[in-house]
Amino acid sequence: MIDLSCKYLGLQLRNPVIVGSSGLSSSIENLKTISVMGAGAVVLKSIFEEQIKFEADKFLKSDKKEMKSWQEAFQGIVSKAEFYYEEAYDYLTNYAKEHTLSHYLSLISEAKKTIDIPVIASINCTTQYDWEYFAKRIQEAGADALELNIYLLPSDFEKSGIELEKVYFDIVLEVKKYITIPISLKIGYYFSSLSNTALKLSGTGIAGLTLFNRPYNPDIDTDNLQINASNMFSNDSEYSHTLRWVALLAGKLHCDIAASTGIHNQETVIKQLLAGADAVHMVSVFYKHHFDILPQIISGIETWMIQHNFSCISDFKGLLSGKNVDNPASYERVQFLRLFSSVE
Ligand SMILES: Cc1cc2nc3c(=O)[nH]c(=O)nc-3n(C[C@H](O)[C@H](O)[C@H](O)COP(=O)(O)O)c2cc1C
Repeated sequence: MIDLSCKYLGLQLRNPVIVGSSGLSSSIENLKTISVMGAGAVVLKSIFEEQIKFEADKFLKSDKKEMKSWQEAFQGIVSKAEFYYEEAYDYLTNYAKEHTLSHYLSLISEAKKTIDIPVIASINCTTQYDWEYFAKRIQEAGADALELNIYLLPSDFEKSGIELEKVYFDIVLEVKKYITIPISLKIGYYFSSLSNTALKLSGTGIAGLTLFNRPYNPDIDTDNLQINASNMFSNDSEYSHTLRWVALLAGKLHCDIAASTGIHNQETVIKQLLAGADAVHMVSVFYKHHFDILPQIISGIETWMIQHNFSCISDFKGLLSGKNVDNPASYERVQFLRLFSSVE
């Protein structure tokens, strides 16, 4: 009898395969399919801090003429009172917040009524925003956990690494004040000492770290001399960067680890678990093949476990982590020195 169940963020999962955050997890129809097809849990599409600010700032930056059109557009909302700029701005900020949030809260509560796998909400954050307002209501709506999706590109010439890293800690500590559900933190890999920062972040009381988000990357179109988007979706060989870091960090942090990026099939799920991941997040593969491949991935893990005489996930989780292998340096090697001397 094969048992795929596991614990992630303190939640009981029927298996470690999580559908990660994306547009695919933003409708109740898809959430039902994700659950029926056998996923262990789902992370909802992030609610974006910038999206809310953008709506409100559109008003702040508008000139008199545009202000008039806003006034007209919000007639009945801003209503009879005189249209005082600041009051109206506050009003619109709250309106934009409430509008964005209420849609999201309905998705959470509907999902909790409809599906029986853990529902992890997600906020994309860049600053210490109004987290009391957001996090509390997400918890009240019934989310089982909250993933904070923070990805700061270190592109500001004026900001030191220390300043940038502080933002991660500030956000986590602020959000933690307001909720009791488990918090996970989804990060990129731009840290000068990733292991040290991950260890310190894991000590803030978060329940998990998701390694790594895959950023949008610009490309250049040489025919039209324009900037365009590069591949939006990962391919099935992109998992190795995550694999290295999962292996190096597993068993050393004070929280769970979820592997994300380039995990497209049962083989790469198994590799991440062997490296020490507690769960995996998968996204691009579902854009390419929809959720129909989920049962195949799950039964593929079972088949492999039978072949290797493993009856539960803990029989092999972390078996090949840096902590458990004879030669952990193999995960730290970055140069191909030996290969250079043997490959013509
Ligand atoms: C179209 C699309 C939308 C995404 N939206 C979000 C999002 O709202 N929040 C988030 O944390 N990650 C988002 N992601 C990132 C994914 O959750 C995931 O971390 C990334 O795609 C790497 O995993 P993959 O290789 O399985 O795709 C998105 C990815 C894609 C392709």
